[in-house]
Order: sequence, then structure tokens, then C-alpha cells
Amino acid sequence: MKGIVLAGGRATRLHPLTKITSKQLLPIYDKPMIYYPIETLIAAGIKDILVIIAPDYAGQFLNLLGSGRELGVDFSYEIQEEPRGLADAFIVGENFIGNDNVTMILGDNIFEDDFSKEIKSFKEGAMVFAKKVPDPQRFGVVEFDKEMRAVSIEEKPKNPKSDYAVVGLYVYDNRVVKHAKSLKPSARGEIEITSLNNVYLKNGGLKVGQVNGAWEDAGTFESLLRVSNFMAEKQG
Ligand code: G1P
Repeated sequence: MKGIVLAGGRATRLHPLTKITSKQLLPIYDKPMIYYPIETLIAAGIKDILVIIAPDYAGQFLNLLGSGRELGVDFSYEIQEEPRGLADAFIVGENFIGNDNVTMILGDNIFEDDFSKEIKSFKEGAMVFAKKVPDPQRFGVVEFDKEMRAVSIEEKPKNPKSDYAVVGLYVYDNRVVKHAKSLKPSARGEIEITSLNNVYLKNGGLKVGQVNGAWEDAGTFESLLRVSNFMAEKQG
């Protein structure tokens, strides 16, 4: 199992903070944001990790993370010139993925849970994770039937069919590269991770796990502050 941390994008929503660095390098309490998703991968036993970054602050990521030796892992890097969508990570990362399965985590997603059991026992298809939230229209939304099997996934729907957000941690078998290449861009011109998950859902190969602990997408000022306070309390 290989790992990808997707830390691209321009994060203009966080200006002026992101005029001088990347969102994923901003502090969350006592360390840069990207440490948290990296630690989630490491906890799941993943040692071979590709960090996908935007061109603007690429040098800062290298200064911070280097080869990975200090953390006992191997980092590779790829530059994503344009934010072409989350599913683009599997096209940018094709050579890195090779013939392996891959777990992708978004560089701004902070989890309390340990996913090692689910990731270590993964065999084929796709596995995503969902959590009940008060504002599902901000996210990918998964609808379940009575047996809690996924029946639909929609990206940022105006009228969400459930309160379950799909969080930024995704596990795929090696077919993900082929499927990502087959996707058509959405109305916002990106190849969406939700379209990719729908390919697996239609094939009957999509499993949806539950997130029990805290989860934040630290892409807004409010969530940045919330997750910093949460980490400070947890460690204090
Ligand atoms: C992305 C995905 C969305 C997912 C979210 C999790 O949205 O498109 O499906 O629920 O990450 O953080 P973004 O935060 O890039 O708008």
C-alpha cells in the first residue's frame, strides 16, 4: 500500500495567510498542518509517501519534510501545476503508484481516528469514510440504504440526501489510475473524486466506513481555529 498526501491548490479563501505560504504549512497548534495527515498514513503502516504540491511554495515543503528519514518514511514529490481536481492526483502519481494499491489523504484533513485496521486489511475496490456533519452541502455526500450500504454519492449537493460527508481519506486498488484517466471534468472544470467514487459504486466495489472520532477539513478560518484548539486541549 502506497500513500499520497494531496497538498496542492491556492487556498485563496485563506488570504492573506496563504499569500506567504501554502495552506497545508499553516500551523495547527504546535506543528504545520501537513504533519497530521502524514501521521495518519504512518499510523496505518504506510511508509512510501508521495506529496503532491503546488509550484508556488514547493521549496518550503522540501525544507520541512526532506527525504522523510527523520519520520522513518520515504517521501517523493510531484508538482501539480494547476489544481485540476482531486482525482488528478492518481494521474500525477501514476509512476509512483506503479502496480500497488494506494491510500490518498487530503493535506488539510485532520483526523483523530486510527484507520490502520481498515487500511491494512484492504484488498480490492475502493474504500471511503463518512461522518455525520451539520453542513453536508460543503462536502461530498453519501446516501445509505437501510443496511447502511451506499446508494449514491454527490459532490456538494444543494439538497443533500443525507447528513453524511465523505471525508478526505480514500483507499483504492490499482485500477484507480485507469479510472481517473477516464473521468470527464465537472462544471467547475475539475476531475472530481466523487466521480471516481461513483465509478467504483457502479461496479459494486465501493465500501464506506464510518469516522468515529473528530474530523476537520481545515480549509476555513473557523475550522483552522477549531482544530488548533482541539489539538491544544488534547495535548494539554
Ligand atoms: C473535497 C472533496 C469532497 C470532500 C472534501 C473533504 O472538497 O471534493 O468530496 O467531502 O474534500 O474534505 P474540497 O474541500 O476540496 O472542496
